[in-house]
Amino acid sequence: GFEIAIADSERVIPVGEDQTVIEALSAAGIEIPVSCEQGICGTCVTKIVDGLPDHRDMFLSDAEKAANDCFTPCCSRALTPRLTIRI
Ligand code: FES
Repeated sequence: GFEIAIADSERVIPVGEDQTVIEALSAAGIEIPVSCEQGICGTCVTKIVDGLPDHRDMFLSDAEKAANDCFTPCCSRALTPRLTIRI
């Protein structure tokens, strides 16, 4: 697992191996709009301000993925122990 920190807040939400970032945030009362939940539509794209995502979507271009400043929390995960997102 890893954790999601919310920029400009004190909130840190753990993400278990068996749940998506969207599921973990939702369980913590933080809702990010989703549609396909399969990394296709881009509805859930969320800004990253710190940490490295593990991109698992088919929406972002290779250049966007390489920039590592946003990710798709419906399916993507983290390569670092913590990802800080801005919502
Ligand atoms: Fe479609 Fe995440 S909800 S890419």
